[in-house]
Amino acid sequence: MQNWVARPAADVRGELSVPGDKSVSHRAMMLGGIAEGVTTVSGFLDSEDCLATLSAMRRMGVRIERPAPHFVTVEGVGLRGLQGVGSPLDMGNAGTAMRLSTGLLAGQDFDSELVGDSSLMRRPMERVAAPLRQMGAVIATLEGRPPVRITGGQRLHGIDYDLQVASAQVKSAILLAGLYAEGRTAVTEHAVTRDHTERMLRAFGVEVQQSGSTVAVVGGASLSGCSIMVPGDFSSSAFFLVAGALAAREPLLVQNVGMNPTRTGLLAILRLMGADIREHNARVAGGEPVADLEVRASRLKGIEVPHELVPLAIDEFPVLFIAAAGAEGVTLVTGAEELRVKESDRIAVMAEGLAALGAKAEALPDGMRIEGGRLKGGTIDSHGDHRIAMSFAVASLLADGPILIRDVANVATSFPGVLGCAAAIGLAVGPE
Ligand code: S3P
Repeated sequence: MQNWVARPAADVRGELSVPGDKSVSHRAMMLGGIAEGVTTVSGFLDSEDCLATLSAMRRMGVRIERPAPHFVTVEGVGLRGLQGVGSPLDMGNAGTAMRLSTGLLAGQDFDSELVGDSSLMRRPMERVAAPLRQMGAVIATLEGRPPVRITGGQRLHGIDYDLQVASAQVKSAILLAGLYAEGRTAVTEHAVTRDHTERMLRAFGVEVQQSGSTVAVVGGASLSGCSIMVPGDFSSSAFFLVAGALAAREPLLVQNVGMNPTRTGLLAILRLMGADIREHNARVAGGEPVADLEVRASRLKGIEVPHELVPLAIDEFPVLFIAAAGAEGVTLVTGAEELRVKESDRIAVMAEGLAALGAKAEALPDGMRIEGGRLKGGTIDSHGDHRIAMSFAVASLLADGPILIRDVANVATSFPGVLGCAAAIGLAVGPE
């Protein structure tokens, strides 16, 4: 098992840029694969999760070249050009790969089976399978979990779907299936979730209708290959934004960060806590807003996190809990029950880890109550969850002794090279 030791560090400073956005990289492989013509992708995230999607598309007959690790060309086979593979497609640790692929494959004329690692095999899939069945798809799960078995050759029809769970993966799966359905497929959401699928479909020339909180596509549209620039992943920058907010006595600059407003909830939450984060050089790259973020340490104070910000910061709660552990007073997060079904149960695993470091953290059914203060050193089990491992590396800025972080290999699913970035700004984290 791979472990890290994070030794106490007093401050962070300097500059770094984070690798490409995971959500955008997955989508670029899928949409590029079913487009007509060639799609070029720069800034592709060369991580295990995105490579699982890339390999699945290759196995289904899409020619994908990688002249450089972050530069990918995809020779689309058109909406109807994918081929069945006759053995399970392995999505590794990647929920996005599995859920979006379920939508993509629901309307093909071949059968598919999707599997993953031990974490993914425990994650709920009915949230995707149920609406797709309403569209006419034939999908089986094993008591709601993978393997996901899709029987091809069905005629899908459009539906109007009311999205009960705030999930961009579910919304995206339905829209992808909608490309293969007769008529109009509409999804109405009650909380705003990330909109990368809608943006990228438009970049490929598909008309995406938007009216209020409803998005819709009409089946049969063809996608035209295009050029995609993947911005830096806001979720990867989050570790450094929190590190900077806690301990950047000199400014810390994180460059080329994707600033899609459906992703930047953490920024709003940290600012409510008193963080000093400034945006420079705001620009648009590849249809997504991007900026450089400068952060300086400030006295953070505990807050009650507004519910509407929860889906906009859904991947950032592990590191937000670390910020809360370093803030004055109490931070209360509720309305975040989705955290229980991520790569790990992020409420239970973070509460266990914070307690091991002496923090006053109380797990709630749908969130956490944390009282700020110093931490001591100790041993954390990340339960194979990449974001938990990286969050406890940031906790070294609050700790009086070394933190041993166990089971960290999965950081490669989203952030290869994180140790180099951490070292560049003064965090003392490395292999045990
Ligand atoms: C993602 C959506 C979110 C997020 C995940 C990536 C996406 O999941 O947690 O890391 O790319 O659509 P949910 O749809 O389950 O909220």
